[in-house]
Amino acid sequence: SRVVKLAVIPGDGIGPEVIAEAEKALDAASQGSDVTFDKTRFSLGAGRYLETGDVLTDDDLASISQHDAILLGAVGGVPNDPRLAGANIERGLLLGLRFALDHYVNLRPSKLFPGVPGPLRDPGDVDFVVVREGTEGAYVGNGGVLRPGTDHEIANELGVNTAHGVRRVVEYAFDLAERRRGKLTLVHKTNVMVNAGRLWTRIVDEVARAHPAVTVDYMHIDAATIHLVDTPSRFDVIVTDNLFGDILTDLAGAITGGIGLAASGNLNPAGDFPSMFEPVHGSAPDIAGQQKADPTAAIGSIALLLDHLGLTEESVRVDRALEEDIAARDGRQRSTVEIGDAIVARLTA
Ligand code: NAD
Ligand code: IPM
Ligand code: MN
Repeated sequence: SRVVKLAVIPGDGIGPEVIAEAEKALDAASQGSDVTFDKTRFSLGAGRYLETGDVLTDDDLASISQHDAILLGAVGGVPNDPRLAGANIERGLLLGLRFALDHYVNLRPSKLFPGVPGPLRDPGDVDFVVVREGTEGAYVGNGGVLRPGTDHEIANELGVNTAHGVRRVVEYAFDLAERRRGKLTLVHKTNVMVNAGRLWTRIVDEVARAHPAVTVDYMHIDAATIHLVDTPSRFDVIVTDNLFGDILTDLAGAITGGIGLAASGNLNPAGDFPSMFEPVHGSAPDIAGQQKADPTAAIGSIALLLDHLGLTEESVRVDRALEEDIAARDGRQRSTVEIGDAIVARLTA
């Protein structure tokens, strides 16, 4: 039998609440199969920082790296909390892991399930995946501040896009499009961000030649936000940079039933490092500790994790249980645990 070493980082706010349900789903899905999950829990996040002053130590990273995969809830506190001003949990921890573990594909599927109430009147068949670059762009932390605190302050954030970094994520997106409906949309802002835009366009054109079965489309980021709302059914695979992908995937969550449903995987497809699975949403301090969080996104992330590990059958079972639960929702308020229990009940039925 196979043993998978799983690092679990529940994190802050609703993180531990949704991860508890995700772990239940994982246990249920792996019961009776020949795979067992050997879990190590890491208490990292804003809470840990306030206690110890540590965000992500070399020891943490070394130990997390030794696992086969990572499950993360959410990290971070109330936005702009002065007690957290001395550190940046999001950069230090979340981006720290994504960068150190070379999670160059941030995979964020969006599917509108039947019966799900959303904000769109007539959305049609919505089923697309955003392939967000995960290690470069505006996220790299290059730049700095000149004359801070003065009327002459200059604050710079430099985006970095490398041919290597763009090519590997674009290749992943084309391969994915080939396995799906054969349509790829590059989203960028080539009319303004001309340097990065030219690089992304060139590489998409080059990779397209090796994938003649894939139809390629281009859309500026601002127009993409229009068309995700007016005709989301036109999208299959969207490939985009780190920041555009961040913004588009919150919008994608909102049009497909809410951020509480949106799952994601931070993948290192090369397999050099463990991939990390987490809901798209954050720690939601506004509803933390009240059992109000929807654990569906965290459970959907379990399906992505199982799929990544090659446990396709188990992954499909989790997705199916989750889809059935979503279809049966009638607008009645349920607690985090109630939703988790309902999905687990379908998994074990
Ligand atoms: P958020 O995603 O935490 O919350 C945005 C809104 O969505 C809130 O109204 C929240 O109540 C709601 N929401 C989020 N998840 C939900 C769920 N599962 N069920 C129901 N409602 C849900 O974004 P924010 O408020 O901008 O950020 C809060 C903190 O989380 C910040 O510190 C931010 O940096 C951090 N953050 C972390 C991650 C991560 O760890 N991956 C992602 C995004 C934000
Ligand atoms: C996400 C989050 C993170 C991001 C933040 C918390 C660093 O918003 O996972 O979408 O911007 O990638
Ligand atoms: Mn985000």
